[in-house]
Amino acid sequence: MSSSVSGSKRRRVLVTAGLPYSNGRLHVGHLGGAYIPSDIYVRYLRLTGADVRYVCGSDDYGVAIMLTAEKEKKTPREVADFYRDHQMRDFSGMGISFDMYSGTSSNPFHAKTSQDLFLAVHKKGYFEKQASRQFFDEAKGMFLPDRYVKGTCAHCKAPDQNGDQCESCGKVLDIDTLLDARSVLSGNPAVIRETMHWFLDLSRFRAQVEKWFDSAQLRDQTRAYVGGLLETGLVKRAMTRDISWGIPVPLDDPDAQGKVLYVWFDAPIGYISNTKEMCVREGGRPEQADEWWRSGDTDIVHFIGEDNTVFHCIIWIAMLSAEGTINLPKAVIVNHYVNFQRSGEEVEKMSKSRGTAVWVGEYLESGGDPDSLRYYLTATASEKARSVFRFEDLEARHNSELADTLGNLVNRITSFALKHCGTEVPRYDASLESPVDVALEKNLQATFVKVTQELEEYSFKAALESAMEFARSCNRYVDDKAPWTTRKTDMEATKLTLSVCLRAIHALGVMLTPFIPTASAKILAAFGREASGIQWCDALEYEVQGKPLSQPPILFQKSVDAQPKH
Ligand code: 2FM
Ligand code: ZN
Repeated sequence: MSSSVSGSKRRRVLVTAGLPYSNGRLHVGHLGGAYIPSDIYVRYLRLTGADVRYVCGSDDYGVAIMLTAEKEKKTPREVADFYRDHQMRDFSGMGISFDMYSGTSSNPFHAKTSQDLFLAVHKKGYFEKQASRQFFDEAKGMFLPDRYVKGTCAHCKAPDQNGDQCESCGKVLDIDTLLDARSVLSGNPAVIRETMHWFLDLSRFRAQVEKWFDSAQLRDQTRAYVGGLLETGLVKRAMTRDISWGIPVPLDDPDAQGKVLYVWFDAPIGYISNTKEMCVREGGRPEQADEWWRSGDTDIVHFIGEDNTVFHCIIWIAMLSAEGTINLPKAVIVNHYVNFQRSGEEVEKMSKSRGTAVWVGEYLESGGDPDSLRYYLTATASEKARSVFRFEDLEARHNSELADTLGNLVNRITSFALKHCGTEVPRYDASLESPVDVALEKNLQATFVKVTQELEEYSFKAALESAMEFARSCNRYVDDKAPWTTRKTDMEATKLTLSVCLRAIHALGVMLTPFIPTASAKILAAFGREASGIQWCDALEYEVQGKPLSQPPILFQKSVDAQPKH
């Protein structure tokens, strides 16, 4: 994957993060999957001066929300509104900086935008109306969406597979290849009933999907997985459903009565309708969303969790190709699951029912530092494979990397400089620089290039590690130069050391802003700088000598005990 930073025109990027279902709280797996990586990328782009918008919102329709409503004795709308608010609070507590957060059932443009896209595809004759056999739960009196049917994969015989895809062999499943199907809702065998639906034959868009696949920015694992799906996954899929909580199928056809759009048809369209709502909130018109979705000079970048891959890399691309006027994404950046391990126990999937989820709200309410969690989830990011969340690892990294390596560097150098050199970053005579000073500056320049490149390539874990490696070099530099000793004999050399190190600390404040924005803002404030006035290039270009210096607060108190008491 490569991407360019250069070019004289202001870069325009629309970044989206997968819309979470609004029927539950957020756990750290959600954060690590789509939201922390996208927020890092957006914060970086903003610092570079790019014209960027960061759009998300809740995915409100579908059976999952209906079932939660039944359980909580609420209407689906009440459920969506309640959890949307809850999730927004969690996102904001974690410093996730969306430009727009709406909901597919609350956004005034969403239903029409989805229906228009459906009609555009319909007018082109791409839908095939067909009676189809679907799984039905007689006890519940409803057709069963794929996720609510489980059975044995006919290909590899793995038991307990969802109705759409086998997690074991990766093959796409359907009514004929899911054996011994039973309803997840009632536990009864799922029976088969006929119902009329509108199907999109994904194989008709093979050429477009393959062309997109060849040029899209995808991580290697995603490329391998989607490459495999191109062989088997371009099947006919129903784009309508027999449920009540959804967007009505906009056709004047008796067979369309009571049917709604498949939630995976309407959900990604939420990215577009939320862009419309954002344009209106910015004082413009909804049509201006076209500047983000139809203009030739905007890059669209989707961030998602691994379970959304097929929908974004195959179905969404086919849908957009069928519609024909909306731009395809430049990149789909996938993170894998974040599993959970309690001390001394087995690694498990995050699961509400098994109590193995780490809830964002609980973490924040129990005094957990958002930056520490952002840091941990990035340092252990599931960019290439699934990762494991462990409280003891979070605490260890908080203590050794954030409090010791970074916090201590900032604290000891600023307090020493303030004590011995006054309230300005000391000026020094460059002719006194030694090879060690020059080496630190060279290291800073190389680190800046590396971190920039890694962020451009969506390698956030590597970018964070590069910045932290530089922080470790700064600590070694200070230990080597020992200003506490030179102070007694050579104040000019001491000023040089402190000034070189303060320049490095300022640069770290800039480079770490996307990852740990609150602590970085404190670092930069020590140099009298407001977060809103910072640019990415300041890491190298901003002259700190002679600028006011003040003591920042302790960045990270040692020993967080952010583990909620269950
Ligand atoms: O997996 C999920 O949580 C889905 N609600 C993601 C939807 S992403 C996009 F298409 F909206
Ligand atoms: Zn299988």
